[in-house]
Amino acid sequence: MSKVDVLLGLQWGDEGKGKAVDFLAPKYDVVARFQGGPNAGHTLEFDGKKHVLHQIPSGIFHEQIKNVIGNGVVIDPIVFQKEIEELGPYNLDLKSSLLLSNKAQLILPTHKLLDKALEISKGNEKIGSTLRGIGPTYQDKVGRHGLRIGDIIEPDFDTRYTKLKEQHLSILDRLGFNEDHSEAEKEFFESLDLMRSFQVLSTEYFINDSISTGKKVLAEGAQGTLLDIDFGSYPFVTSSNTTTAGACAGLGIAPKQIDQVFGIFKAYCTRVGSGPFPTELFGEEGESLRKLGNEFGATTGRPRRCGWLDIPALNYSCMLNGVTQLFMMKADVLSGIDTVKMCNAYIKDGEQTEEFPFIYTDSYEPVNESLEGWTLDSYDNFESLPSKLKQFVETIEGKVKTPVSLISLGPDRKETVLKKI
Ligand code: IMP
Repeated sequence: MSKVDVLLGLQWGDEGKGKAVDFLAPKYDVVARFQGGPNAGHTLEFDGKKHVLHQIPSGIFHEQIKNVIGNGVVIDPIVFQKEIEELGPYNLDLKSSLLLSNKAQLILPTHKLLDKALEISKGNEKIGSTLRGIGPTYQDKVGRHGLRIGDIIEPDFDTRYTKLKEQHLSILDRLGFNEDHSEAEKEFFESLDLMRSFQVLSTEYFINDSISTGKKVLAEGAQGTLLDIDFGSYPFVTSSNTTTAGACAGLGIAPKQIDQVFGIFKAYCTRVGSGPFPTELFGEEGESLRKLGNEFGATTGRPRRCGWLDIPALNYSCMLNGVTQLFMMKADVLSGIDTVKMCNAYIKDGEQTEEFPFIYTDSYEPVNESLEGWTLDSYDNFESLPSKLKQFVETIEGKVKTPVSLISLGPDRKETVLKKI
């Protein structure tokens, strides 16, 4: 019997999970997404090509891998159709390699309108949602009136769709939000036809059968731990559990089946949307890091806020997820900077703390440590990296008490070194 490994983000998303999954994928038989939906943008680069996936798991380019969209995902059929079309040139046998959970919730066109209307109604307190309908769809799931992929083959689907849509329209009406969605509705029904041509099943059986027949399963997270609905910087979070626990609930895996937990973090921090960010850099410094790292959202194109690495937050994420190995991404971005910093604690009301706060307000001052920077040259392995970069890695390992086993030095699969742990 084999076990399930989990790969997830330890910051506010955009850590580089797409590249990491794609890199690891050849070792696995199954790659499964367990939460989130089209708010995610997982970027993969290989053979000089760049591809962004939103809902489809990042193992899709490896023909031998089965890719599962799990029950914990919320799926927009219109985005699904676009993603399938964009994969067309790669000549992949998607009907065989992609499996959809019958229990994954459907994002309706009116969910997206609700997302917009609710964001507008929040005024200055808006979350900065990607407006992909994520929050309203999870609300309907928990409210027990959502529609699931498995429902699209049922004879009463249209009736249930209309009932839910009417509920949404009445809320929109009360919010004074009126936007035509007839075109989107047409596209929605067309894309359901495509969805019906895929394998729709109780993927929890598929995954557990895979485990018991010795297949290797990788659970792929989306967003990041600091956006988790329970433990993130609430209310500036997404609407799902982005942690290891989310992998169990979002795929139907028992906790005892989890083996390795790969925690992905950037050598610095970024955040899109609103919410506190104690190590954020403003003005020239922030702008320069944004340019060096090309920090613009893969889904919305929005500029990402940038700042130094936050060790208390990283420790918190490692604790919540039971991280066994760390993957440090985008170390190349800091190349050429004379002094790099990391935050070791926060000062709040004159007191120093290393605890991730309940209300994570802007009044948390970072206590930063300065380290000498490095300039990246040619490298073959971890040993041949600049000594200051190796020290940076070892400093993090010392503070987080977890080994770093992979360092990413560029977007391509080849720009990666492994470190023995
Ligand atoms: P929502 O999940 O679209 O409702 O967005 C809620 C918050 O999570 C917003 O601040 C978004 O910017 C952020 N967010 C959602 N998905 C991602 C992601 O994949 N990467 C980074 N931030 C995300």
